[in-house]
Amino acid sequence: MIPFNDFHIMHKELKNEMGEMFQQVFDKNWFIQGEQEETFNKKFAQYCGAKYCIGVGNGLEALRMILQAYDIGEGDEVIVPSNTFIATALAVTYVGAKLVFVEPDIETYTINPDLIEEKITERTKAIIAVHLYGQTCDMDGILEIAKKHNLKVIEDAAQAHGAEYKGKKAGNLGDAAGFSFYPGKNLGALGDAGAITTNDEELAKKVRAIGNYGSEKKYNHIYKGTNSRLDEMQAGFLNVKLGHLDKWNERRRKIADRYLNEIKNPNIVLPTVKEENVPVWHIFAIRSERREELIEYLSENNIGTMIHYPIPIHLQKAYEDLGHKQGDYPIAEKISNEQISLPMFYGLKDEEVDHIISCLNAWK
Ligand SMILES: Cc1ncc(COP(=O)(O)O)c(C=O)c1O
Repeated sequence: MIPFNDFHIMHKELKNEMGEMFQQVFDKNWFIQGEQEETFNKKFAQYCGAKYCIGVGNGLEALRMILQAYDIGEGDEVIVPSNTFIATALAVTYVGAKLVFVEPDIETYTINPDLIEEKITERTKAIIAVHLYGQTCDMDGILEIAKKHNLKVIEDAAQAHGAEYKGKKAGNLGDAAGFSFYPGKNLGALGDAGAITTNDEELAKKVRAIGNYGSEKKYNHIYKGTNSRLDEMQAGFLNVKLGHLDKWNERRRKIADRYLNEIKNPNIVLPTVKEENVPVWHIFAIRSERREELIEYLSENNIGTMIHYPIPIHLQKAYEDLGHKQGDYPIAEKISNEQISLPMFYGLKDEEVDHIISCLNAWK
């Protein structure tokens, strides 16, 4: 079976480096807020082209802490795309603000800036731009609206490590960005981890304090903070992995180019890449109106797939209190009903890509 994702080859190549890193951190006997995190913060900020990076516990907390640090909470509204992973929405819910969904562009799957302005009220405080599947949002469109209405632009870059928009990297395209280093991400830790990047010095100081029980100085608490820090072991592993990220993304782009150029089937819709974007293909999303049939056919041909995501947020049980019904966000629903993620990972072999393409082309 060709899996949808597989770390084996990537991790096998890293075995020695990761082992040495484990030993180094273990021998140092310092596990929270130490030199590995400091190094990672410097290196990842530099990688994204941002001034600051603050390691945190995970991607959800990264987004939640950015909102808290911007004093966004009860009585405020935050615009989020109607098609994203639930964490984007949960971050808004946790700070007590109201979720305002905006439909995506059906071609790129990222939030449609043309539909944002009609949802803005005097309570709107921020737009969360989710670079879904590894392709950045239409940032010029979003930033223009944000400037006009004095809104913060928060990137959800959990799926976009290294993705570029007009030559600038994700993590340096808005006021602040939240990253996830969940193991399956393009840059993944060996457990949960995340980071915030920003050029805003005040925000950087504040989120760092919030993630450390609200304190800049031990036992001196200036915010109602939380415990959300990037530990030394994960920071060390990420330091090793960051050095390989461009190579891994390059392989993903090669596979994506083949999928884009060689899959030719009128029953399958391929993703669209905007000229100004260099995606990192966290997910290669195709669509078909006969999705279940296609998944079964691929599975019979030993090709693993996933769906991102099978139920849109507004129809999830967790959000039934919002009172939404089927048909409220038809584009998000269409994507949920038709989307399939093809195998996409460093280590996917050319022969496997050949097999996937020829099976898709043979599907009637
Ligand atoms: C778009 C998006 N936002 C946020 C998150 C949350 O990240 P984490 O799992 O590290 O909390 C994820 C990944 O899980 C994601 O895909």
